[in-house]
Amino acid sequence: MNVQINLDRLMGRIFALGEIGALRGGGVKRLALSDEDRAGRDLVIQWMEEAGLQITTDVIGNTWGVRAGSKDAAPVIIGSHIDTVATGGLYDGALGVLAGLEIIQALNDAGAVTCRPVGVAFFTNEEGARFAPDMMGSGVAQGALDLDEMLSVQGIDGKTVREELLRIGYAGKASVLALRPHCFLELHIEQGPVLEAESLAIGAVTGVQGISWTEYVIEGQSCHAGTTPMVMRHDAGLVASQIAVEARAIANDFGPPQVATVGMFDVSPGLVNVVPERAVLTVDLRNTCDETLKKAEERLNRAAEDFAVAQGCKVDRRSLARFAPVEFDLGLVGEIESHAKSLGYSVRLMPSGAGHDAQMFAPNCPTAMVFVPSKDGLSHNIKEFTAPEHIAPGVDVLLRVVLGQAELAS
Ligand code: GLV
Ligand code: MN
Ligand code: MN
Repeated sequence: MNVQINLDRLMGRIFALGEIGALRGGGVKRLALSDEDRAGRDLVIQWMEEAGLQITTDVIGNTWGVRAGSKDAAPVIIGSHIDTVATGGLYDGALGVLAGLEIIQALNDAGAVTCRPVGVAFFTNEEGARFAPDMMGSGVAQGALDLDEMLSVQGIDGKTVREELLRIGYAGKASVLALRPHCFLELHIEQGPVLEAESLAIGAVTGVQGISWTEYVIEGQSCHAGTTPMVMRHDAGLVASQIAVEARAIANDFGPPQVATVGMFDVSPGLVNVVPERAVLTVDLRNTCDETLKKAEERLNRAAEDFAVAQGCKVDRRSLARFAPVEFDLGLVGEIESHAKSLGYSVRLMPSGAGHDAQMFAPNCPTAMVFVPSKDGLSHNIKEFTAPEHIAPGVDVLLRVVLGQAELAS
């Protein structure tokens, strides 16, 4: 049986999906549950229908299409996401979904029969850029996040997940835990610089580091920038800045793999001659070791309190996301590595720095991921790019693992 990937068809779909929410200068904005997300979903579902798949949407909008196997067995699921950050690229998430679709279409073209069904899925709000936390849909689908709590989450524009799901027509009927795969596989761009720097074709992903997102809100008092002596101020902006600097100091002191990012920082009223009365910032801390991540969180929270007290301000914090590190299935990781080697591709084992839908499946079924290189290590950036010749090896390896797991019958 010769199952052949059609790279042109896959790239054509990546570019067609990338036109939905396209930004001037390249890249894409398809925030979760936006009109653009709806249009992206409609297009992918049209392709799933053309491929003859049995399509299901669940209560939080996760959608999967399944190609039947010769046995009534749990499916091999290939999945990822099609939402993006506001300054996203064409490949983050889309590659994993469309590569899954391409593999299924290649099975169709070859008239292949697999024992197990093979399905392709996209999950709601992987990015968490509009509604926190990230991996929301896959987290709900796998029982790690509470459905009602997630439906009530308010986005950065004040709308809730529930209203936006209904508005775009993607509140489906299938229940939480309706998707129970035999195994879960995700192909993704690395989104970092390691594979490119080492001139490697494939990353066999061993797991995902822990993720902690916190929002700090500082309340002080606004007053005149010219008349108020420095010692008499309650400057919320200063406290927010000290928290941001402390986050970097923690990463420096702890050393790799600890990372820390202040991605959102807002002071109000935001005027040149007014001391800020309110500041809001987010801190994203990550580490492969949960104990170290907890220490980083504790140090930052203590420091935030101390900075606020010293300035006569008040600080409140809210957890936006907290996921422990996850390890993938050793057997599947080994299969990815050995298929890569037997196909003649250079490969290394590596952890993932980014969060992925796969991590939500890992506790419930054998799960693994394949990485391909990212040009200049860029992602969450409109310049995100992976050349077709770097995508092809990843799809080849994924296909081999799928064929093994789904047991090609004829
Ligand atoms: C998800 O893309 C994340 O890692 O922030
Ligand atoms: Mn992604
Ligand atoms: Mn992303």
